[in-house]
Amino acid sequence: MGTDVLLTGRLLDFIADPFTTPWEDACLIEDHGALLIRGGKIAARGPADSLRAQHPDVAEVAYGEALILPGFIDAHVHFPQTAMIASWGKRLIDWLNTYTFPEEMRFGDPAYAAEIAARYLDLTTAHGTTSMVSFCTIHPESVEAFFTEAQKRGQRVVAGKTCMDRNAPEGLQDTAQSGYDDSKALLEKWHGVDRISYAITPRFSPTSTPDQLSAMGALWAEHPDCLMQTHLSEQVDEVEWVKGLFPNARDYLDTYEAHGLLGANGLYGHSIHLETREKHRLLEVGAALVHCPTSNTFIGSGLFDMAGLKADGHRVGLATDTGGGSNFSMLRTMGAAYELAQLRGTALHPAQLLWLATAGSAGAIGMTDRIGTLAPGTEADIVVLDLASTPAIAQRATRASDLWEAVFPTIMMGDDRAVKAVWIGGQPALG
Ligand code: GUN
Ligand code: ZN
Repeated sequence: MGTDVLLTGRLLDFIADPFTTPWEDACLIEDHGALLIRGGKIAARGPADSLRAQHPDVAEVAYGEALILPGFIDAHVHFPQTAMIASWGKRLIDWLNTYTFPEEMRFGDPAYAAEIAARYLDLTTAHGTTSMVSFCTIHPESVEAFFTEAQKRGQRVVAGKTCMDRNAPEGLQDTAQSGYDDSKALLEKWHGVDRISYAITPRFSPTSTPDQLSAMGALWAEHPDCLMQTHLSEQVDEVEWVKGLFPNARDYLDTYEAHGLLGANGLYGHSIHLETREKHRLLEVGAALVHCPTSNTFIGSGLFDMAGLKADGHRVGLATDTGGGSNFSMLRTMGAAYELAQLRGTALHPAQLLWLATAGSAGAIGMTDRIGTLAPGTEADIVVLDLASTPAIAQRATRASDLWEAVFPTIMMGDDRAVKAVWIGGQPALG
């Protein structure tokens, strides 16, 4: 696992949720801080002076004024949509049929799947994202490609074979039985290997028959420690479609609940147009919602109720939703979350935005003991941000009187140029 190393710079970490604890108390800020990395993990966190004195023989990597944070965690992506991100002019169902499904058809080819998996992980590392939860395609080859590439890089990732047995082109459908069998085989091969976890992945109710949803529910019941990921109430037209496809369901969530697909390890992407019963049930079971703000504006989906859902106690993670989302960057995603919340009358604090992209997403996927903070004992996935990465940001940051004013221009205007270094599993991955 290599030798010890001391990273020094400005540290920002989260010790509580800044939506429920005042951010002054939820955050740990160390202006001249250090992290001791040992065996792929964070062994110590504290003032640079004292860690240097305790470990005089350890090599130091000095980041000066740059900000050391937990690596970003993207809680909902479709890595196979990398090459068609930012496709023009459609809303959800048209967008899926016009751009997404034709691209996903290509992932039966292992060479193409491997090429895009590598490209996706290169791009996300460049943007400071160290972990993600990804949909693959219906092809087991796409899952193999993604896990193989992530394993090579030592990344903690979660992914699963996307299951669809209706309302998709021929050639992009499995069956209830083959979806179950292929998912089970991939789960048994990969779940818990190195830093890899399997997520049971029915795409969404419109593309699965009740039989397939039941098969996915049965697989989840056999492997309850696995995450289950899907989409919920993203667009009004989609919600209406679901009502037509499942006339006996009480609401969209009920199409999952009735088939064993509602639980605390469930990740429900988008969750914008929720009815009262749905919110109550999601809260009751402790399920996690994933906010995808650049996608929600890009595809024209709607305004997620971050303030209301967090105030009610929902678990919420943050995500790009690549390639419905229009950017690989979690900085841009935090900026978009800020803008969407403003449209609903709430100004999210930079501490809340950064928490969502790190500890919040880790909490949504049940991994706060491993990733999402700089706590000693957790895995050393780290991003280092230059808070003066462009002339526009630099001139604004010079006016800052505290860390929050210094970091907010980077949240709103920053991109991959702000990412000075990335560490994955205690190894340098960038910078
Ligand atoms: N709903 C079902 N599939 C998808 C997808 O690939 N992207 C988005 N944004 N929504 C979906
Ligand atoms: Zn999605």
